[in-house]
Amino acid sequence: MTKKIILDLDTGIDDTLALSYILGSPDAELIGITGTYGNVLLETGVNNDLNLLAMFGREDIPVFKGPSHPSDASDFSVPPSSGIFHGENGTGNIEIPAKSTKQAQEQSAVDFIIESARKYDQDELVYVPTGASTTLDAVYAKAPDVIDRLKVVMMGGALTQPGNCNPFMEANISQDPQASNRVFATEANITMIGLDVTMKVLMTKEDTQQLRELGTKAGRFLADMTDYYIDISEQEDPAFQGGCNLHDPLAAAVALDATLVQTFPVNLMVETEGPGIGRTIGDPNRLLSPVKNTKVAIDVDGDRFVKRFKERLFALAAQSE
Ligand code: BDR
Ligand code: CA
Repeated sequence: MTKKIILDLDTGIDDTLALSYILGSPDAELIGITGTYGNVLLETGVNNDLNLLAMFGREDIPVFKGPSHPSDASDFSVPPSSGIFHGENGTGNIEIPAKSTKQAQEQSAVDFIIESARKYDQDELVYVPTGASTTLDAVYAKAPDVIDRLKVVMMGGALTQPGNCNPFMEANISQDPQASNRVFATEANITMIGLDVTMKVLMTKEDTQQLRELGTKAGRFLADMTDYYIDISEQEDPAFQGGCNLHDPLAAAVALDATLVQTFPVNLMVETEGPGIGRTIGDPNRLLSPVKNTKVAIDVDGDRFVKRFKERLFALAAQSE
């Protein structure tokens, strides 16, 4: 069955790969992209989204703007580590080989998500945040009626692994720990795709070479961009395993097929102060609660996912210009 997807992106290299995966998935209908801040500024990410859609010939898909900064701040600047991992432009300093003539929609990301959640059931629509929780937090604050209507498969956090910003904190949660904590405190149906599983799925230079050999502009762009990510991961990531982590693509894939991961039910919280700020951990105040609303992915059928990821990415790149 085809699922409707809203992808929330801070575009970003693995965000670009997640978008490509969804566009290459016959079982997905991307009804909109909601832009957020994180790997890049909101405006840069939204421009990347528009240009990527132009590159893939999919400018029919609307792009909406989310909040441009954390809920407890008045602005946002890109952390130096994001500039290093994703390049200043978000796509590894490789230029997207298309320029969109479109603009982002007038309607806000928050209103688009609310409207969609009210229109479709949980088995029809999945919202996939792959950046800060600021937008989802704003959705719940504005429309509490959608909390138990909207299915969420989120990339972020870490339960059984150290963080990737520091030993406690994963990058997406680090952007707005307060918002993430409020989101996990609700009774929403959230699957957390964190570093526990995303660090087990990799793209290698052999894969990017195959992509390049497809001979299309899109294939070359995706290959060059991903090579940047692999090279920088090798230089900067002490946990480098021979390829780049497919963080956001795995969340996108689980939104379409939950059997790719094994999950652990738990009521999560996020530490919002002290040395462990940003840590996603079980909430001691809800330990005895019979209802566990978050499902944390703790293992992944990595071979099945990576095979499917490459098939869909390569097919999309082969049929693009
Ligand atoms: C997450 O942080 C961002 O850098 C990536 O796009 C991904 O969503 C990984 O921690
Ligand atoms: Ca992301």
